[in-house]
Amino acid sequence: MISKAAVVGAGLMGTGIARHLSSQHIDVLVIDASLEQLEKARGMEENKDLSFSNELKAISDRDFVIEAVFEDLDVKLDVLKAISHIVGEDCIVASNTSSLLIKDLAQSIESPNRFIGVHYNNPADMNPVVEIIASELSDISIAEGVHQWMNQANKLAIRCADTPCFVLNRQSLPYINEAARCLKIATPGEIDKIATTKLGVGLGPFAVMNLVGLPVMAAASRHLAVLGEGYASAEQLQAQQEPWEIDEPGEANKEVTSEVVRRLRGAMIFPGKDILDQNLCSRDDLHEICVQALGYEKSSAEWLEILTPTVKDELISIYLNSCR
Ligand SMILES: NC(=O)c1ccc[n+]([C@@H]2O[C@H](COP(=O)([O-])OP(=O)(O)OC[C@H]3O[C@@H](n4cnc5c(N)ncnc54)[C@H](O)[C@@H]3O)[C@@H](O)[C@H]2O)c1
Repeated sequence: MISKAAVVGAGLMGTGIARHLSSQHIDVLVIDASLEQLEKARGMEENKDLSFSNELKAISDRDFVIEAVFEDLDVKLDVLKAISHIVGEDCIVASNTSSLLIKDLAQSIESPNRFIGVHYNNPADMNPVVEIIASELSDISIAEGVHQWMNQANKLAIRCADTPCFVLNRQSLPYINEAARCLKIATPGEIDKIATTKLGVGLGPFAVMNLVGLPVMAAASRHLAVLGEGYASAEQLQAQQEPWEIDEPGEANKEVTSEVVRRLRGAMIFPGKDILDQNLCSRDDLHEICVQALGYEKSSAEWLEILTPTVKDELISIYLNSCR
């Protein structure tokens, strides 16, 4: 389906996406408007199999072009308009936007039916989940074709509704924000230990924040706030620039442990319920995101099935009170 691809934007995500496509024996061209950025990307050992150019017109023979430039509506509209004028009619055009709607970006594309969202998660070459988004203007068969192709290309492709921040960030960030709010009652080391030993996550939330990078986490969390109640970013996360210092925790305090467990569990099931209530993806896809991408022993979908309605309501209300 895809034999010649281009990635426009040679930043963190663009180069990671290019490495994934190139690992599938696809000819990949990476474009960036900044010569400095191109040189930086070209100089990295892991990018040695990629081709680079600052001439957008070099994408004219591509059958798949994905845009990964700055998360700014006007910049993306300009770039997508230019892409759609250069490529052939059969070329699939995609955006890696994290928070903009695909239908809003589609207005800049000639023949918006061939335009979809293909949301790789960071790091794009390693993270298993790729969210595939068809807008109301997209040709479903194109989105389905890319979905199938991704599944054959060692990714876990998830069909998502055209909604801000899609599913993975919506599911994961309330819990990350709540962990940061819990700093009022416990240390990073204590919270991470409670999360790994009592909540069944592979890696504690502070270790996850350090791994992904604090500026990236803070920016994603700010974008999520557009979703309203329950999605506000924690001020402690926004204030943190450097990696967290994760201490070796001492003896756990029972009351603190119980409060952290309930708040973090509430922060996991609140978005899970919202995602399923709004039908933003299937129950099984949500389950796979939680288990495979986020490292949860039990997914939010499973907790919603296991817990009684009273307990679910109580946990969600504890969480919502904390982020008000
Ligand atoms: N960083 C993440 O964790 C993450 C995760 C998923 C999706 N995304 C999305 O991926 C996209 C890229 O994010 P990033 O973190 O790689 O950003 P980045 O700042 O690392 O890279 C953006 C690149 O786009 C280039 N660029 C800007 N305008 C351009 C233009 N007109 N033509 C060509 N190149 C241009 C810049 O020079 C830069 O190299 C954004 O839409 C972002 O929301 C980011």
